[in-house]
Amino acid sequence: MTDERLATGIASVDRLLAGGLETDCVTEIYGEGGSGKTLFCLEVAARVARAGRWVFYVDTEGVSVDRLRAIAGSDLDRILKRLLLSTPKNLEEQGRAVATAGALAREGQRPVGLLVVDSATFYYRLSLSGSDEDDARQALSLELADLVVTAREANVPVIITNQVWRSLREGTLEPLGGSFLNHAAKTILRFDRLSGARRRAVLVKHRSLPEGSAEFRITDTGLEGPVPGDRSVPSPPAGVQLT
Ligand code: GTP
Ligand code: MG
Repeated sequence: MTDERLATGIASVDRLLAGGLETDCVTEIYGEGGSGKTLFCLEVAARVARAGRWVFYVDTEGVSVDRLRAIAGSDLDRILKRLLLSTPKNLEEQGRAVATAGALAREGQRPVGLLVVDSATFYYRLSLSGSDEDDARQALSLELADLVVTAREANVPVIITNQVWRSLREGTLEPLGGSFLNHAAKTILRFDRLSGARRRAVLVKHRSLPEGSAEFRITDTGLEGPVPGDRSVPSPPAGVQLT
């Protein structure tokens, strides 16, 4: 276990995470549609690429360059040069993309600063109602194991996003992917939609930090925190920052 952190650049979230994302494990972000998961991934990816490190970005959603451009501003070309984007079309291709990214990161030929899978459960969800449900579960489990090993061996932070389902009994939004996904991720953040552009990150699980929350908001150029009037729970002092 390392105490290195990758700062996200969103001040309130970095405070919540005592400096940022842990570099040797998988961080899961789950939340309803429009809660800011993809914008968060793009924001952190742009930051890492801008600093000259490589980002492997596995995208199942068809992220548009326009969204990245809004975040990147005049640095777009510089950022694109460090971004290795793959756009799998099914769960099998997704597994292969993750395996390739992991192998390259572990090989250590180039400085890799981040691996993103957004969303890790899009194709998995599509398979759940079909006859290949068990295969889908197994494919996702293998992929997650791969990501865990990559993060640990290459000391590369991994962000995966996850969709939600509504528990009618509890009236809550629950992450997809079952217990294996929640065990694989050592940090779990839930993103909530508040009014307008306001969003809240809730720290649901962490190896060394207490539960807490932080507000941020969506602007035309990305994510920003703190939000005026935010009463989020304060976190312990910031740790080591990579950038
Ligand atoms: P899913 O992938 O559907 O699960 O959603 P997500 O959690 O990935 O949400 P995403 O990061 O795509 O955030 C989309 C939210 O950002 C939506 O509510 C948009 O309305 C909002 N949004 C996108 N661009 C802008 C912008 O330039 N300004 C503002 N204020 N909001 C924006
Ligand atoms: Mg998204």
